[in-house]
Amino acid sequence: MYTQGLTEPGVRPATESTPDDAERLRRFEARIEAEEKIEPKDWMPDAYRQTLIRQISQHAHSEIVGMLPEGNWITRAPTLLRKAILIAKVQDEGGHGAYLYSAAETLGVSRAELIDQLLAGRAKYSSIFNYPTLSWADVGAIGWLVDGAAIMNQIPLCRCSYGPYSRAMIRICKEESFHQRQGYDIMLKLARGTAAQRRMAQDALDRWWWPSLMMFGPPDTASQHTALSVRWKIKRFTNDELRQKFVDFTVPQAQFLGLSIPDPALRWDEAAKRHEFGAIDWREFNDVLKGHGPCNRERLAERRAAHDAGRWVREAAVAHAAKRAARAVA
Ligand code: 3HC
Repeated sequence: MYTQGLTEPGVRPATESTPDDAERLRRFEARIEAEEKIEPKDWMPDAYRQTLIRQISQHAHSEIVGMLPEGNWITRAPTLLRKAILIAKVQDEGGHGAYLYSAAETLGVSRAELIDQLLAGRAKYSSIFNYPTLSWADVGAIGWLVDGAAIMNQIPLCRCSYGPYSRAMIRICKEESFHQRQGYDIMLKLARGTAAQRRMAQDALDRWWWPSLMMFGPPDTASQHTALSVRWKIKRFTNDELRQKFVDFTVPQAQFLGLSIPDPALRWDEAAKRHEFGAIDWREFNDVLKGHGPCNRERLAERRAAHDAGRWVREAAVAHAAKRAARAVA
């Protein structure tokens, strides 16, 4: 899906196979082992390049689509301060998408191609963003749980073996902690508010808990990419390992809020020093990935409409750049 656009015609991509690739692969893996960063101009196995394009583009798409659920509440924030905080957060997500599309472009794929794939419904973005935001408490639950899960997943990505991705992650993670904090603050305010506000917070936790666990991906037994991604240090932990860390970290926070996690099987295993939790509904997960989630159609329609509405801006920017380039050589 990504081979076109990787290099100009006639230029051999750095990853086209040659007789001494076994030696190149050995040297590449020795560099990974030595914790060296792989940079865009370095030789890399095509499978490394392709899985990075796959993951980074989905990550970028997630950031951009992820602006929609919360953006829906900017005009309805309960105070001017909450509105300002939410505007800043949603704007941050757009910036995260831009960093990540830039990181993907260093692998020889164009941003336009990736965005076309998203708009055509041929690219994935995180399943979590296909759920509706029904109340202000959802904005709190998203910051607390979704950004909390994103941080759990993204902190290890700061140590990803691919230089541009790891550097984008370092910048993004600094902003994610603000995102998570502001969400938890909303939940704390509601949990300490009126009975109706406490019910709103509990209802949001009930609806966002399980989809947040799905953000970490399918179980390790069903993940077709984890083995290679761990071997080449794109991933530092498996999906289940990060999911477990998230549950263990978040359950005490819910207890502090006085809210209950919607999982009757949840319990602390003192011997294993971790929480046991109930089965995730992977049928729901796969349905959402296939486009049958509550908001899949709405999210894509909004992205397509925004892309069309922004066409004149892109055209003006390209025309301006061409005019400046022409003036520079005149
Ligand atoms: N939603 C959508 N697709 C998912 C998914 C999810 N929650 N979990 C897994 N998938 C997809 C994978 O992309 C892969 O699809 P593909 O083969 O078509 O590319 C397939 O399901 C199999 O899953 P794997 O576990 O084998 O795939 P990965 O090794 O790529 O692991 C991942 C999945 C852990 C999500 C990994 O891709 C990753 O770490 N991605 C980067 C981080 C990310 O995307 N975070 C979530 C969204 S960003 C966010 O929340 C921003 C915040 O500011 C709000």
